[in-house]
Amino acid sequence: MVVGKDRLPTFKDIPQLPTVRAVVKEGIRHRSIVAELGIARKLDQDDWHEEYFIPKGTILHSNFSAIFSDRTLYPDGSVYNPARWLGPSYPTYREPLSIYPNLTGFTSFGYGRRACPRTNFTDRTPTVMVARLAWAFNIKKQIDPVTRKELPLNIKYEPTPNPKPEPFSARFEVRDEQRAKMITKEKEKEDLKDPLFVEKR
Ligand code: HEM
Repeated sequence: MVVGKDRLPTFKDIPQLPTVRAVVKEGIRHRSIVAELGIARKLDQDDWHEEYFIPKGTILHSNFSAIFSDRTLYPDGSVYNPARWLGPSYPTYREPLSIYPNLTGFTSFGYGRRACPRTNFTDRTPTVMVARLAWAFNIKKQIDPVTRKELPLNIKYEPTPNPKPEPFSARFEVRDEQRAKMITKEKEKEDLKDPLFVEKR
């Protein structure tokens, strides 16, 4: 047990939460928030890549979709599978799990001098957010009001090159009363610390 029932997950827990890091990284890999063809670059001089001549002025894309379909690294690339970062049988597995998986140098953030400067932010804040959601809630499929059976998850994505999911419904159930009280207490404590906080009336 890393966190326990008596407190919320914090940044200090991140090294002990490889599964949460894997969930975040796999989400970013599976459905990039950036165009699936990467950010376009224009060559300012003639260049060669292996046997390919690429003339000055060519527009190049680092094709994230194709890179993440490379079977040598991602044998089941089309599947959302956080285990690929956690299990030694996967080619993407790396130790120690107190550090990996992380987002440093990850394809989804681009390459070279213009690569995304905020992988460090993404490694931390969304990880703690996901850890807190998992700490607080059982997240379940919606129930059909007539049959009382779980409805299948039907997540659709916007038809754009950098799609986000369309709204879908799910059930968030607080895991227990103690956690419900702690969430309210923590929120009040954080509001008091926030110099920009304005109480809604
Ligand atoms: C899941 C989270 C994110 C992903 C996948 C992502 C991905 C990317 C990608 C692919 C690029 C283009 C890199 C290239 O040209 O090769 C980029 C650029 C950039 N990103 Fe992010 N990013 C993320 C989060 C953030 C956050 C949280 C910030 C700021 C707080 C940020 C700020 C920037 C900036 C300023 C650039 C432009 C850098 C430049 O052109 O020199 N990104 N990002």
